[in-house]
Amino acid sequence: MRGIILAGGAGNRLKPLTKVTSKQLLPIYDQPMIYYPLQTLINGGIQDILVISDPNNIGNIVRLLGSGKDFGVRIRYEVQDSPDGLAQAFLLGEIFIGDDDVTLILGDNLFVGDGKFLEEAIRSFKGGGRVFAKEVPDPERYGVVDFDKKGQAISIEEKPKNPKSNYAVTGLYIYDNGVIAKAKSLKPSARGELEITDVNNLYLKEGRLDVRIYKDYWLDTGTFDALLEAGNTIAKLRKAGK
Ligand code: DAU
Repeated sequence: MRGIILAGGAGNRLKPLTKVTSKQLLPIYDQPMIYYPLQTLINGGIQDILVISDPNNIGNIVRLLGSGKDFGVRIRYEVQDSPDGLAQAFLLGEIFIGDDDVTLILGDNLFVGDGKFLEEAIRSFKGGGRVFAKEVPDPERYGVVDFDKKGQAISIEEKPKNPKSNYAVTGLYIYDNGVIAKAKSLKPSARGELEITDVNNLYLKEGRLDVRIYKDYWLDTGTFDALLEAGNTIAKLRKAGK
């Protein structure tokens, strides 16, 4: 299993904090944001990690993470020239992924818990796709899962005006190697991006997407409030010795 951290993007919602630096380098209490998704992958047992970022910020990210030696993993880097969508990670990462399966995590997503959930999810992964949904009060900000009466996922909508549930798809995705071909088949959406939600819907149509509910604390740190909340939550956990 290979891992990718997608850590580029324009950071528009956090300007001016992101005017001269990357969102993923902003502090979340005592660590740069990108340490958290990196630790999630490491806790999942992943040892080969590709970090993708934009031309302005990749240098600082390399300075921060280096070869990965300090974390006990191997880190490689790739530049995304413009933020053309999350699914582009599989095109930029094609050579790195090779014939393996791949776990993608967004550089601004915090999964706080015992860290074992990803290890188990990877160990029991038998192909297709596996994503993690979390109940949220503001689903319209995310990819939203529509479930049938038996609790089976039927579709995922990206930032719907009228969400069909309160379950957001979090920024952590496990796929088999077929994800590269699926990403190549995508057309840019109305907002001009290769959407990860389209990848998920392709797997869903094949009946090969497993949607799991994530029970612990999860935060997409893309807004000022979310950033502050994340810092406060981590501070509390650290002081409680966790
Ligand atoms: O956080 C979970 C959500 O992430 C999902 O529920 C949505 O389905 C998914 O589309 C995504 O939504 P966001 O609106 O949060 O995506 P955003 O554009 O903020 O990008 C997420 C991260 O990826 C952010 O740290 C910037 C980075 N990024 C984004 C794009 C579009 C890149 O590095 N390259 C890109 O091309």
